[in-house]
Amino acid sequence: MEKLVVRGGKRLCGEVTISGAKNAAVAIIPAALLVDGICIVENVPAIKDVAVICSILEELGAKIDFLDKYTIKIDCSNVNKYTAPYEKVRKMRASYYLLGALLGRVKKADVALPGGCNFGSRPIDQHLKGFKALGAKVSDDPEIEKSGIVYAATDGLVGTNVYLDVVSVGATINVMLAATLARGTTIIENVAKEPHIVDVANFLNAMGANIKGAGTDVIRIHGVDKLHGGTYSIIPDQIEAGTFMVAAAATGGDILVKNVIPKHMESVSAKLEETGATVKEFDDSIRVIGTGTIKPVNIKTLPYPGFPTDMQPQFVSLLAAADGTSIVTESVWESRFQYVDELMRMGADITVCNRTATIKGTGLCGTQVRATDLRGGAGMVIAGLMADGETTITDIQYIDRGYENMEEKFRNLGADINRVNDTRIDN
Ligand code: EPZ
Repeated sequence: MEKLVVRGGKRLCGEVTISGAKNAAVAIIPAALLVDGICIVENVPAIKDVAVICSILEELGAKIDFLDKYTIKIDCSNVNKYTAPYEKVRKMRASYYLLGALLGRVKKADVALPGGCNFGSRPIDQHLKGFKALGAKVSDDPEIEKSGIVYAATDGLVGTNVYLDVVSVGATINVMLAATLARGTTIIENVAKEPHIVDVANFLNAMGANIKGAGTDVIRIHGVDKLHGGTYSIIPDQIEAGTFMVAAAATGGDILVKNVIPKHMESVSAKLEETGATVKEFDDSIRVIGTGTIKPVNIKTLPYPGFPTDMQPQFVSLLAAADGTSIVTESVWESRFQYVDELMRMGADITVCNRTATIKGTGLCGTQVRATDLRGGAGMVIAGLMADGETTITDIQYIDRGYENMEEKFRNLGADINRVNDTRIDN
């Protein structure tokens, strides 16, 4: 097992280039199942979740070639299977996109309930609601709970109106995937508006789909007979960008974050300015200059364009060293503060009550901590960059799911951070 060793106290300065968006890539790659031709997808992040979803597609019969480290060629012409490999599906949340894509492509899907970070129950009832509305027969909830497998089949999907009871990124994308080749028009209301949802719609339209309204509250999909091949480049990762922006504020540093879309970062930029950092926006980059002190702020996570839940742990780590008390409310996930116990091992003074964390700023001391999940792991790195002494972070496989070469990018900014083999005896 590997671990990260961070020695805090260094001001991070310099430039960092952001990779392609994980949550766009893990949806666009399965979306290629709908394409009757060859897709070239550029700016794909080199992260574990991409490797897993590519491996699943290959087991379904897709041919995937890496034209270079960040460009993949996907040919799904010979896909005729509909049972996704259980063990791989369980490794990541985004595997649920296989349901919508396989239903749309081969009219059947047999996919295990997804894995992914543990934030309490992560139901997919809204995904299934959309599939049923389009005319699919779906295994009922009790069966899902027992077998952990979702079966879905249809003689042919027919466009309809779907009102999502919950604003859900996954359900919005999954119903859009299933509706792309359905007969007739589908209108999905109360949809999520994250940038990666717009990116998936733009990818599908580049392949000949007819999808309008992504990024607004209503998405209209006019079903088409088939999708042709083409080339598409994935947007930059707003959460990776936000993580490095927070690191600049956390270390009193000065970082130019390159290959970003500033509009996607608005809520993060605004919150960082409230903490006292200076944020300068350019066409495709953002410069963040920390002052060495951090003002306390209050945050409530919301669906886009609100403050992103995926930036919550990184900000709580920043606020753990603020000059005062901050309150952070997690309104998207029922339980997304598991990492706080690890922060408290570093001396943080945080009280969690249900979905609200009260953070009294104090100094942090390095010690041994673990990554409890993907963004919680990123929060541990932020805390280690600020802490006195050495912080060792284990279970970093979570971090590798969503960040490409995180320690190398931080080292290039002046951080004292290294990946080492964890010689602990695995008990
Ligand atoms: C996506 O998860 C992201 N993952 C998450 O990012 C992110 O935290 C989340 O969206 C919110 O932005 C991927 O894109 C792979 P949701 P998803 O469906 O789609 C409830 C990261 O760090 N809900 O928008 O699973 C759900 O319980 C990861 O990159 C239902 O009730 O999230 C939650 O409370 C972590 N029924 C809320 O909606 C459903 O059918 C939002 O979930 C679906 C969701």
